[in-house]
Amino acid sequence: MGRPTKMEKLGIVDSLRNAYQGKKVFLTGHTGFKGAWMLLFLRELGAEVTGYSLAPKHGNDLFHLIDGSTYCNHIEGDIRNRKRLADAIEAADPDFVFHLAAQALVLDSYDIPVETYDTNVMGTIHTVDAMRSLNGKPRFGIIITTDKVYENQERIEPYAENERLGGFDPYSNSKACAELATQSYRDSFFNPAKFDSHQTSIATARSGNVIGGGDWSANRIIPDLVRALQNGEELVMRNPSAIRPWQHVLDPIYAYLLLGTRMQENPIRFADAFNFGPRPSDELTVQQLVEIAIDRWGSGTYNTPELANQPHEAKLLKLAIEKAKEQLGWEPQFTAAEAIAETIDWYATYKGNPYQTTLNQIQNYLTRLG
Ligand SMILES: NC(=O)c1ccc[n+]([C@@H]2O[C@H](COP(=O)([O-])OP(=O)(O)OC[C@H]3O[C@@H](n4cnc5c(N)ncnc54)[C@H](O)[C@@H]3O)[C@@H](O)[C@H]2O)c1
Repeated sequence: MGRPTKMEKLGIVDSLRNAYQGKKVFLTGHTGFKGAWMLLFLRELGAEVTGYSLAPKHGNDLFHLIDGSTYCNHIEGDIRNRKRLADAIEAADPDFVFHLAAQALVLDSYDIPVETYDTNVMGTIHTVDAMRSLNGKPRFGIIITTDKVYENQERIEPYAENERLGGFDPYSNSKACAELATQSYRDSFFNPAKFDSHQTSIATARSGNVIGGGDWSANRIIPDLVRALQNGEELVMRNPSAIRPWQHVLDPIYAYLLLGTRMQENPIRFADAFNFGPRPSDELTVQQLVEIAIDRWGSGTYNTPELANQPHEAKLLKLAIEKAKEQLGWEPQFTAAEAIAETIDWYATYKGNPYQTTLNQIQNYLTRLG
């Protein structure tokens, strides 16, 4: 038994608050689905957030619904614009950079492959490159990629962090490229062995298929289902038998924040790549997910037509999460059924007060963490 870490002494929530209270956080992608949850979570922990993203796409985006621009220094900017991004990062003088901005949709990446690579690869390089000119205090960069970065062999065994990267479609492949570019920046400019000279620690986070309230993206199963339920229509389900590592949005956000906390404690050891997925017993097919969601909503129907000429999408994808469990002490807090229930309950109740609905779910999550 080693000496207890600061986190074991403090308890998880206190150590998260300790890490982020009053800290400057630069958050890219804060107008997106995960970014808006992350923004509120960071604010709940007392962080000062600068957000840098494109404008929200839809009038009912979570960022709009919670009035996100009032909780951060809100910058509308393009991560492909290297100078503007670098200037914004320099001005923010962040302790933490969480890089979430991306062209995040697989199907869109078939329509706009060049833009997808440009945003996901060059946008990531611009972000880590901008951290090179910062100095004077420790900095922690957490680059968000995805479970889809692995060369998918459609096998039953889960992928561990040291396995070969790949990616069939431009989205997955661009995220694998972002991993490789980050690794090169870590080796070349932010080498953990020379942390004392550059004081920058960079990690990557690969999480699973995220569900949660406030996602309105096209061609994602929960938003597609909610639109169908709200309009009294039948859901047309693509890939009913595909298995995915579903998780509630708060589980990966907690993972990113915990990783940042751990990096702050030990910037050398945790400058690494980590998978964050559900427990193996919680990996469901698309059809199982939909059936549980419809049950929670109380009504709804779906069909699974044979869809011809569909673009390729992975059928089977599982993530090994032992490394995050053993090294970071991270564990998913929700079962799949709980994650689906939280998600459906958000959509069923958000209209009265979307900000409060979202905040209540965050506060309940913090209570769960203890
Ligand atoms: N949602 C998921 O299931 C899931 C799973 C694994 C990983 N991820 C990753 O998590 C991150 C957030 O995903 P999300 O679901 O919130 O996506 P989203 O599409 O809801 O949000 C994307 C965000 O990136 C911003 N953005 C896109 N292009 C930009 C550009 N050129 N310049 C500046 N900002 C830009 C958007 O404005 C938005 O704020 C992404 O990196 C994504 O790849 C998502």
